[in-house]
Amino acid sequence: MLNETGLFVSFEGGEGVGKSTQIRRLAEALLRRGHDVLMTREPGGSSGAEAVRHVLLSGAAEMFGTRMEAILFAAARNDHVEERIRPALHRGTIVLCDRFMDSSRVYQGVTGNLEPEFIEALQRIAVNGVVPDCTVILDLPASVGLERARRRGAVEATGEPDRFEKEEIETHEKRRLAFLDIAAREPERCRVVDAMQGEAEIAAEILAVVETFLMPKLAPLANAEPAR
Ligand code: TYD
Repeated sequence: MLNETGLFVSFEGGEGVGKSTQIRRLAEALLRRGHDVLMTREPGGSSGAEAVRHVLLSGAAEMFGTRMEAILFAAARNDHVEERIRPALHRGTIVLCDRFMDSSRVYQGVTGNLEPEFIEALQRIAVNGVVPDCTVILDLPASVGLERARRRGAVEATGEPDRFEKEEIETHEKRRLAFLDIAAREPERCRVVDAMQGEAEIAAEILAVVETFLMPKLAPLANAEPAR
């Protein structure tokens, strides 16, 4: 088992696939079942990482190149891991994280054209042993996702698309394939969920996935000798 206590679930996919809605629904379902849940997101999730988030999403770091952006994402991730995720897992919490290391592999690695060795080296430092037990990849054709992202006012309160949303449709389709490729290479960790389904169907599928990952963690507790 990767994380001995707690359960670390990351959510990945392109723009407009419905990650935040589904994370909220899953958190509610898990809370109703009596679990301790932490909902968080990247870039951000801790105060140091939130400060870096603004620099990244405003495009302020774009002029310094993809390599610089990748390092900033990794710096933010490391702060998030050490300040919030690792302590939560240690307490036995289920951590639901909107984007994590696979977003860097796809956005900076594949469509940012950085060498996989560079990205993997950065990831090793950033996550420092804290890898998701389960990664839910919400899959949607790029054109559908982009249309949805535009309709909801392109995410940020300004109504302006962020640095990564402005890119072309082919780039988004490339990212979709890159996420599917990660899922194919790491089938024990990744589960692809068809995001063309209705919201309730997607939520039910994700809950079932997470329950299969929770089961082996809860079983030893259920079988444990009652405390004297
Ligand atoms: P956000 O507004 O949180 O949007 P989304 O709903 O798409 O998750 O923006 C995060 C953006 O940052 C998103 O376009 C993907 C990008 N990103 C990277 O490029 N690399 C990363 O490692 C992470 C975590 C995000």
